[in-house]
Amino acid sequence: MNNRILVTGGAGYIGSHTTIALLQAGYDVVIADNFSNSERWIPDRISTLSGHVVQCHELDLRNHAATLECLHQVRPDGVIHFGALKSVGESIANPLHYYQNNVTGTLNLLDAMQHIGCNNLVFSSSATVYGYPDRCPISEDAALHAINPYGRTKLMMEQAIEDIGTSSPGFHAAVLRYFNPAGAHDSGQLGELPRGAPNNLVPFVAQVAAGLRPEVKVFGGDYKTPDGTGIRDYIHVMDLAQAHVHALEYLRDRKQGLVVNLGTGSGYSVIEIIDAFSRASGRQIAYQITDRRPGDADACYADPSLAEKLLGWRASRGLDTICADAWRWQIHLQQN
Ligand code: NAD
Ligand code: WQD
Repeated sequence: MNNRILVTGGAGYIGSHTTIALLQAGYDVVIADNFSNSERWIPDRISTLSGHVVQCHELDLRNHAATLECLHQVRPDGVIHFGALKSVGESIANPLHYYQNNVTGTLNLLDAMQHIGCNNLVFSSSATVYGYPDRCPISEDAALHAINPYGRTKLMMEQAIEDIGTSSPGFHAAVLRYFNPAGAHDSGQLGELPRGAPNNLVPFVAQVAAGLRPEVKVFGGDYKTPDGTGIRDYIHVMDLAQAHVHALEYLRDRKQGLVVNLGTGSGYSVIEIIDAFSRASGRQIAYQITDRRPGDADACYADPSLAEKLLGWRASRGLDTICADAWRWQIHLQQN
C-alpha cells in the first residue's frame, strides 16, 4: 500500500482529528463527506493545523454512481471509513435513515473499492456492538449483541466486511471498535461540533460549565457501580486518531485484517467526569440525578491489550487532558 488515503466522513469529529494525524505522518489525504453532520470550513482548518493541504470531495455515500466516480478519481491505496450517522436515539426514531446511511453507504463504498482494486479498509465500529456487556473489561471475543438500529448497522457492516475478506483474500480490513471518544485537538481550534443539545456526556458537561445549559442530567444513580452512576471508557480523540495511523501501517506491513477495541482500559463514572471537568474548567458544574436513559449499561470499558499487542498502540492521554482540551475548545467556540 502506498500513501494515498481516502477518509470518508473526514470533516466529522473523529475523521478531522485523524486526518491531521495522517497528514503529519506523511500521508496524502483526500476527504469525502456530505457535510450532513459537519461544517464546510473544517477541511481548511485541518490544513491550517496540520501544515499540509487536504483535498476534499463533497460526496454522499448513498449515491452509488457518485461514490464510484469519486474512487475512480482519487484512486486511494486505502480507505478509512468514518462516514456514518451515530446517534442511538435518532436511529430508534428513524431506522430507515440509519440503514440507508450506514448500510447502503458502506456497501456502495465497498463496491467502489472492489471496482478500482482498493484492498485496504479501516472501519469505524463501536463498543455498541457488545450491547449490555456480560463483564468488564470487554475483550474482542465477548458476545456481540447490538441492542438498537445504530448498533445493528455497525454489526451488519462488520459481518459484511468479514465476508468480503473471506471471498477476496487480497482484501484486508482493520475493524476498530471505539469506546467513548472525547476531548479535542490541543490547539483548541478543532473539536466536536454537536448540533443542538449534545447526546454525549462530555460535550454536554462542557456546555454546562460554559453556562450554556443550567445543569447536567445524570441518567440514573442506582447502577451497580461504586457511586451508582454509569461507568464508561473515555478515550482522547487524538489517541484514537493515532491508532488509525497504526492500523494503516498494520494493513500495509502484515497484509491481514484485525478487529480491535480502542479504549484506555480505565472506566470513570458520570460523577467522576463532572468532577474532572470542574477541575479542568475551574467552574462549578450543577447536576441532578434523574431517571435512567433506556438502553444504558452499568459499566462499559475495554480490555485494550489486543490493540497494544497487534498495533503497538495504547492511549497516552488521561481524563484530565481530555477535559482540559475539551474545555479549551468550548472556550474557542464561544469566542468565535
Ligand atoms: P461525526 O458525525 O462527527 O462524523 C461523521 C461524518 O460523516 C460527518 O462529517 C458526516 O457529515 C459524514 N457523513 C455521514 N453520513 C454520510 C454519508 N452518507 N456520506 C458522506 N458522509 C457522511 O461522527 P464521529 O463521532 O466523527 O464518528 C465517526 C465514526 O465513528 C462513525 O462511523 C461513528 O459511527 C463511529 N463511532 C463514533 C463514536 C462516537 O462516540 N463519536 C463512537 C464509536 C464509533
Ligand atoms: C456516557 C455516560 C450516560 C449524557 C454512546 C453510544 C455509543 C458510542 C459512544 C457511537 C452514560 C451518561 C450521558 C447525559 C448522562 N457512539 N450521561 N447525562 O451512551 O456510553 O455511548 O456514545 O458508536 O454507541 O451509545 O455515551 O456520552 O451518551 O454517555 O448521565 O446528558 O454518561 O448514561 O452512563 P454512551 P454517552
